[in-house]
Amino acid sequence: MIESVATDLPGLVAAAERRYIDRNPESRRRHEERAEVMPGGNTRSVIHVPPFPLTIVRGEGARLVDADGHEYVDFLGEYTAGLYGHSHPVILQAIRAALDDGIVLGAPNRYEAVFAQAICERFPSLELVRFCNSGTEANLLALSLARVATGRPAIMVFEGGYHGGVFSFVSAGGSPINAPFPFVVAQYNDAEGAAQLIAGHAHELAAVIVEPLQGSGGVIPGEHDFLRALRQATAEHDVLLVFDEVMTSRLSTGGLQQVVGVTPDLTTLGKYLGGGLAFGAFGGRADLMRRFDPSRAGALPHAGTFNNAVLTMAAGAAGLTQVYTAGEVERLNGLGDRLRDRLNGFAAERGLEFSATGHMLEAGYSYARRGFVALSLPLGEPDIDGFAAAVEAFLDGGLAP
Ligand SMILES: Cc1ncc(COP(=O)(O)O)c(C=O)c1O
Repeated sequence: MIESVATDLPGLVAAAERRYIDRNPESRRRHEERAEVMPGGNTRSVIHVPPFPLTIVRGEGARLVDADGHEYVDFLGEYTAGLYGHSHPVILQAIRAALDDGIVLGAPNRYEAVFAQAICERFPSLELVRFCNSGTEANLLALSLARVATGRPAIMVFEGGYHGGVFSFVSAGGSPINAPFPFVVAQYNDAEGAAQLIAGHAHELAAVIVEPLQGSGGVIPGEHDFLRALRQATAEHDVLLVFDEVMTSRLSTGGLQQVVGVTPDLTTLGKYLGGGLAFGAFGGRADLMRRFDPSRAGALPHAGTFNNAVLTMAAGAAGLTQVYTAGEVERLNGLGDRLRDRLNGFAAERGLEFSATGHMLEAGYSYARRGFVALSLPLGEPDIDGFAAAVEAFLDGGLAP
């Protein structure tokens, strides 16, 4: 069956695209409307899908509804930022309560200390933390701090790494709009190669930045020995080690650094930690972070109108202290582990590598075009079973004509 499907793959893909266009006239219309005022109808490259993306008009729990009224179970989870789902009552209540007291106060507010304390308790390598508005910004700030603190300009990154819109090394050579820092590019999971490069470039390296699991580069786990070797080599050469845990901090109560047993000098955070609102944070060693203390002579400036945005601080604090508790961390990651094992089992039984995005939309499941899945708290076992069954049906039947 699979073989015969493969011979007519272009025809089947064209038919699937036709069905998609016919099924989604309102999403198409809205795409065309957007394209009159936004390049390609898009303001966020990763959510573009040819011939046009679905316009989502509503989300509730783990359910999405598109502009043509179709319902989907959300297995994208906003690329990990949607961990709480679309309408968690604790998050909604925190936002509503904050709204009632004013949202642009132009001063420290009552939520940020609670939130900062919860983050520092959760991730002990963060002795001090500062907030910003995205993971990209957190990385820009952490790396700029590293450059000032060491007096050296260069940053070591890894092929396949993604640290934000201006820090992407997913495709060869890196993005043409990367920030203009001098980069030294090493191979991910090559401990010896990276240690040699760190030694060879120590005179110019401010920091090594690494995702302890490469997310956008293909969900590739960092080998523990590799990450520990980075810690050792950076410490030996007085280079700072930055863990980008924007995506991975949700994977255990103390992030992946806790699992691997590595204490980085600086850590960057983002995504779900803002409760579903725009969020970024960076933190780490107190001696480094204190450079931002504005009461000190020569303090580094770090302004940002929305650094302590009231709604984000309130939603993030409520989420971390009341919702994503240790028990929930364990439950959600257990659910993810079981789903991954089932999908890997299907592929192994059939000797296949697969990606089934289009078919999965028709079956009512939404996830990223590149095959990326991120679970959220409102998903239940029946959703997981349904998703796995839809994948299995796809593998057994091939692409439906
Ligand atoms: C590991 C990692 N770092 C940084 C970022 C950038 O975060 P943001 O999209 O909030 O700028 C992302 C986003 O996907 C990420 O996965």
